[in-house]
Order: sequence, then structure tokens, then C-alpha cells
Amino acid sequence: MLTAEKERGNWGSKIGFIVAAAGSAIGLGNIWRFPYVAGENGGAAFVFIYIIFVILIGLPVMISELSIGRHTQKNPVGAFGKIAPKSFWKIVGGLGVLTGIGILSFYGVIAGFTVGYFIKILLGDLSHITTGDQANEVFNQFTANPYLSIGLLFIFLFFTSAIVMGGVSAGIERWSKILMPVLFVLLIVLAVRSVTLNGAMKGLEFYLKPDLSKISIPMLARALGQALFSLSLGMGTIITYGSYLSRRENLVTSAGAVVFFDTLIAILAGLVMFPALFAMGMDPAGGAGLVFVVLPSIFAKMPGGMFFGAGIFLLLSVAALTSTISLLEVPVAYFVDERKWDRKKATLLMGISAFILGIPSAISLGAVKSFSVLPFLDFGFLDFMNALFGNYSLTIGSFLIAVFAGYKWGIKNVLNEIEQDGVTFLYKNIWSFLIRYICPVAIVLILGYIIITRNYF
Ligand code: PHE
Repeated sequence: MLTAEKERGNWGSKIGFIVAAAGSAIGLGNIWRFPYVAGENGGAAFVFIYIIFVILIGLPVMISELSIGRHTQKNPVGAFGKIAPKSFWKIVGGLGVLTGIGILSFYGVIAGFTVGYFIKILLGDLSHITTGDQANEVFNQFTANPYLSIGLLFIFLFFTSAIVMGGVSAGIERWSKILMPVLFVLLIVLAVRSVTLNGAMKGLEFYLKPDLSKISIPMLARALGQALFSLSLGMGTIITYGSYLSRRENLVTSAGAVVFFDTLIAILAGLVMFPALFAMGMDPAGGAGLVFVVLPSIFAKMPGGMFFGAGIFLLLSVAALTSTISLLEVPVAYFVDERKWDRKKATLLMGISAFILGIPSAISLGAVKSFSVLPFLDFGFLDFMNALFGNYSLTIGSFLIAVFAGYKWGIKNVLNEIEQDGVTFLYKNIWSFLIRYICPVAIVLILGYIIITRNYF
């Protein structure tokens, strides 16, 4: 076996790191989740709050995670344990490991759907669609087949595991670098088609003209959860990726670049979705199936639509893959570093766990419509996992990371980590203020309200 240091690997370059971290951040969170959550929560007002949270909470937490990761060169459990030995802080890392599997389980289901839709387009299964209703029917039929959903989940997790087994830079970097820019260009093409549809204006208004009276505390909780989910924060993904980052790089500009691209893609995805959705008279609060219904309806209205359709679903699958890789990498890095498992065994076991945990999610979107978690919750299993791991776990994790960076490890030590090799952090006072006061207080207020009013979902 190689020594621990060698086995961990390193990013080929700064741009390699940014591309890989952006690959983790950019995924279904931006294109599947952001539009439907925004649609369910009032559109533009949600977008407005979302952007505020990205800047005031997401960016400072990302800088903290990167510093912790690079400083310790470890997975989240090892990282907290190294800075604060013999303390409960290790549990924060443990929560991250668990959350990685939890998110992977339902994320893999939707990622499987994107592969399924890619294949459907190649088979010509979507070419008869001309209306939103038809697109809806195709989606309902698609999700009604449990074997298909479970099979696609399996395929997706199989590919994810195969790449994670191959190690860091070889797998992730090479893929992301080529394909993310293509995704960006395709989204722009689709956005242009969408905003030029008849009746698109109403959608633009819904998406971009905030009605601030729509702001509510549950909506704040969703916007915060979405911001953290989209940026891959709160579970140590960025700690893990930061641990492969070299000391010479500027953490702050790297974080800024990742946050910028991730937000750009999310906003762009909304620009594809909402104008088309309104132009075709669909319901913006249509829920988790939104992309799978809206996109095919747009393809129907474009010359060469199926060609773009195949392209977008293929790239969406790839974008999802660079995210699932990062989700699986957290538990794998933990078992490799802390438990001295070999990478193959760790990857295999974690992949299988996510698959088994994902099965109820895979059948809950159609096959077994009433498959809810608890009899009194009118709630699908996937929605439940999505809220539990994709919102609350990340929110609590980010709160703890902010407290850790701001108070336990401390501002001075974080700044020392950032300001190495002549790097100066221009906004360090602002960052310190945000991480010590704004992030933890805002999160406690929002979560406190949610708990008191029992407005969890
Ligand atoms: N950020 C990813 C996305 O938007 C999902 C993710 C969440 C990945 C948490 C890693 C950690 O698709």
C-alpha cells in the first residue's frame, strides 16, 4: 500500500481544483432542485433571498470549510479531530459522513432519471410531445415503473463508485474540465428559446420581479437549505476537497469563483424553466418532476429540439455525476483515512449502502405514490430524505462549522491558514463578522422558528 500522503492524491492545479469543486457544486441542485423549490416558494422573492444567503452565509462557510480542509489535509471527521482532539467536534464530521450517504441515496434516483430521459430521447420516446400535458403523462408513466427507477439508480451509483475507486484527480478533474462549459452553453441556448416563447413575459415576471410580501420564515429555511445544498456546504464535501488543495493557492478567490459559477448556473436554469412554464400554462409549484416536464416541452418548440434534448440530459447526467462523486468521496475518505480501509472496499460498501437506502426514494415518486415515511405525513419518501438530509442536516452542519471556525479553532487560526505565502485576504474583517455573528445567529433564528411552529416541510 502507498503511504497515506501519496494515496490521498492532489489536484493537478488551481484551475483543476476550481473545476472539480464547481463540478461538485453544480449539479441537480442547480437545474432540478433550484427551479422547483423557487417555484413552490413564490419565485422572485425566493431568488432574492437565495442570493442574499449565498453571499452572507454560503461564501463565508465555504471559506471556512476550505481552510479547515487544507489545514488538516483530512476528511471531515479527521479534520475536526485534528484541530480539536478529544472533543465532540468529531461528531460534526460524522454527521457529514452520514449526510453524504443520505443525500446520495435520493440524489442518485433523480440522477438516474436524467440518464433515463437521455435514453428515452435517443429512442424517440419524447418526440410526440407537443403539450405540457403530454410531457406530464410521459413523466408519470416513466416513474410508475419501479424496476426502471431502481435499475437507473443502480447504474448511476455503479458509475459513481467506479470513478471514486479510481482516486481523486484522475477521475474527477478530467471529466469536469471538458463538460461543464458545454452545459453552460446549452443552457444559454435553451434560455434564449424559452424567453422568446409566446407568453414568456409572465414567467420572467414571476421569476425576476420580487413580491417581498411572499417572504415567510419557512421560505427562508428553504432558501437557506437550497443555498447550502447547491454549494455543497455543511457536510464536509468542501473540507474534503480542500484537503487536496495545495498551500500555494488563494482559498478566497477559489471559493469566490465556485460560488459565482454555481449561482450563475442556477439562475440560468430558472431562466430556462419559468418563461417556458408560464408560456405553456403549467403550474410553477409542480414539484420535483418540474424539469422532466418543462424541458421536453421546450424541445418540442425548437428546430432540432431532440438534439438539444439529448445534449442537455446527457450533460445533466454528467453534472450530476461530478456531484455524486463528491458526495461519495466524503464517506470514502473517512473510511480510508480514519479506519484504514482500502479505497475499493470503502467505495463498494458505501455505494451499496446508498443504493439500498435509495430504493424507497426510487419508488416514491410514482410507483408507490403513497409511500410516505410516517402514516400521518402526507409526504413521499424522497421528499422526506430531501428535506432531512438536503436541508436540515446541511443547515445544522453549516451552523456548527461556522461556530467551529469563528470560536473554537478561531478567527486568527483561520486567517493564518488563508494568508500564507504572501496571500492577503482583503475582506477578512467582513468575513470574521459574518462567520461569528451573522451565520450562526441567522441559522439559529430560522431553525428555532421552524421547530417552534413545527413547520418542517
Ligand atoms: N451541490 C450539489 C448540487 O447542487 C449537491 C451536493 C450537495 C453535493 C452536498 C455535495 C454535497 O447538485
